[in-house]
Amino acid sequence: ATSLKSLAEAKGKYFGTALTQSNLSNSTLTSVANAQFDMMTPGNEMKWDTTEPSNGSYNFGPGDALVSYAVAHSMRVRGHNLVWHSQLPSWVSSLPTNQVQAAMEAHITTEATHYKGQVYSWDVVNEPYNDDGTLRQDAFYNAMGSGYIADALRTAHAADPNAKLYLNDYNIEGENAKSNALYSLVQSLISQGVPINGIGLESHFILGQVPSTMQANMARFAALGLDVAVTELDDRIQLPASSANLAQQATDFAAVQNDCLAVTRCVGVSQWGVGDADSWIPGFFSGYGSATMYDQNYQPKPAYNALVAAL
Ligand code: XIL
Repeated sequence: ATSLKSLAEAKGKYFGTALTQSNLSNSTLTSVANAQFDMMTPGNEMKWDTTEPSNGSYNFGPGDALVSYAVAHSMRVRGHNLVWHSQLPSWVSSLPTNQVQAAMEAHITTEATHYKGQVYSWDVVNEPYNDDGTLRQDAFYNAMGSGYIADALRTAHAADPNAKLYLNDYNIEGENAKSNALYSLVQSLISQGVPINGIGLESHFILGQVPSTMQANMARFAALGLDVAVTELDDRIQLPASSANLAQQATDFAAVQNDCLAVTRCVGVSQWGVGDADSWIPGFFSGYGSATMYDQNYQPKPAYNALVAAL
């Protein structure tokens, strides 16, 4: 049978999804996931609030369950994530600034060592930028300045030298102030010999707004010698979605897939979730939904057929 993963693999790429531990008990969801996807990103289970809820006490059970599931179903794993301002337990943000670096390094070392050999890649720093291209003034920036990013990458590389190390963010899919700032940072990291392998373009789009510069933007990062990946694709529609909306969504998904196919160093596309029933969009963007390629009953939408045609 046709599957996104077999079509992607024939082109040297993968097609992925995000799964949470609770998704694993939904057999309708998992039968689609098992058939279609060969890469899996844990939706929440490797984030700091789950893995180190209090200082020095680690909980890898939920992440381990997802890794076992992935192994059993021949999916590789994108580790997500080691350092992020969100889903960060309050003990980290309340540390005195002179203790944040040690806490960050211990967290990265312990988690990346635990999953050594089991993850294809790590989103080492997630969402470091504001939309205007300045760095977020989060706990890490406030303690260490912009150097926290290089420090995090070096620490992750020491723990798992074979994992591909990524910076991952949203609204960096096209050429704009935010992606320009990231591009400058990455040039400087490379010139300093900091270990970095890839850029994750989250790709949480609004219907009809896939940037026309997405392919050129991926190509400029690839030209620095990096992999690029579409890491969290969805395309939200103001509800109720019309059939014209679903046709536009198919156009949007095909455009993203074609952009990735056109860039050799684009390693794959991952959707954020399997279907509309498990998507995070309705809970976070009021009035929006229908953002994935499968409907509420895990039946394929026009976006799925457009991906098959593109691949
Ligand atoms: C989302 C999850 O899907 C939700 O379950 C959670 O409540 C919030 O985070 N960017 C990211 C992902 O990098 O980790 C986010 O995932 C979506 C936005």
